[in-house]
Amino acid sequence: QKLQLNLEQIEKGGYEHFMLKEIHEQPKAIRDTYRGRLLRNEAIIKMAGVEDNMKKFLNANRFIIVACGTSWHAGLVAEYIFEDLARIPVEVEYASEFRYRNPVINENDVVIAISQSGETADTLAAIKLAKSKGAFVFGVCNVVGSSIARETNAGAYTHAGPEIGVASTKAFTTQITVLTLMALRLARAKGTISSSDFRKYLLELEMIPNKIEKSLESDAHIKIISDIYKDSNNCLYLGRGFNFPVALEGALKLKEISYIHAEGYPAAEMKHGPIALIDENMPIIVIATKKGHYEKVVSNIQEIKSRKGKIIGIVTEGDQQVKTLADHVIEVPETLEFLTPLLTTIPLQLLSYHMAVLLDKNVDQPRNLAKSVTVE
Ligand code: G6P
Repeated sequence: QKLQLNLEQIEKGGYEHFMLKEIHEQPKAIRDTYRGRLLRNEAIIKMAGVEDNMKKFLNANRFIIVACGTSWHAGLVAEYIFEDLARIPVEVEYASEFRYRNPVINENDVVIAISQSGETADTLAAIKLAKSKGAFVFGVCNVVGSSIARETNAGAYTHAGPEIGVASTKAFTTQITVLTLMALRLARAKGTISSSDFRKYLLELEMIPNKIEKSLESDAHIKIISDIYKDSNNCLYLGRGFNFPVALEGALKLKEISYIHAEGYPAAEMKHGPIALIDENMPIIVIATKKGHYEKVVSNIQEIKSRKGKIIGIVTEGDQQVKTLADHVIEVPETLEFLTPLLTTIPLQLLSYHMAVLLDKNVDQPRNLAKSVTVE
């Protein structure tokens, strides 16, 4: 018993929980993800699974991304990135819906299955279905040699290392990293981005781990904010564009480990429903980074303020405008718009972590949830 406990403490590397350790591992995990793939000096991205199947990717009518849970959110971020950079139409599907829907799919479709564990039953079934219709299936998995890694035609591992906390953190950001590398590689091959932009993007991507480190420095500030809102019954998360899926993921993280009801919404959809919920007891986390619909998000913030909602803004370093409106702001460094999800995710992970710890919940093993869901 004693030995067991000590072993676990060693595994936690000085952190109180695996989740916190894994949040802090993200700079390293992302470096591991692009190591050997992102070759900035040569201005190339090398991914064997993509190179070997380049024709299939370039001739695809569309990409269909299938996944569950947090991996599905990574798929949504990827949809924005693939479409924006590589101009490839993308659909993102819950694997559980896709598999039972008699989907229209054929040999000109590329299916990308995203799964941390590589064992999720619904995702595996969706892959088998897509393969039976002749589609080419590419896997983005973390666990090496997992069922999904074996079942797919080709793939790319995320190299996040083992993720123990049930709430996914570093798996999510490394999935986004792999999918971003793929999008950049395909964009270059298709000529949808210039070689000078490509170089610029590689440089920015390489700077992300340092910027995550910087974002992690807000930890103590986020803990204070968490203490103020930990007794809330509801929380609303808003974001637009690349950061809409981040809002969904932020809400999921909070639900999973603190059991506080939370909803993520595209900021502009607020007026079609969630606005009715806003009063002085409702904390609303708004992702309002400088690039990407900033002014529109600011006007959403004004609408929230006039209804007395409590605003926690996730903003770009040095932001002044949101600061004057919001009750609290959490800063992240500036980066290219399509890379912002890798930074805005960090404070949301910490916010849910601290709320759950302050509420004395079992952060690493939340009730009713499993790390990998191998049954329907
Ligand atoms: C479970 C886990 C989630 C995960 C989801 C998909 O619900 O608790 O953290 O996002 O399964 O898992 P996968 O391993 O396929 O990414």
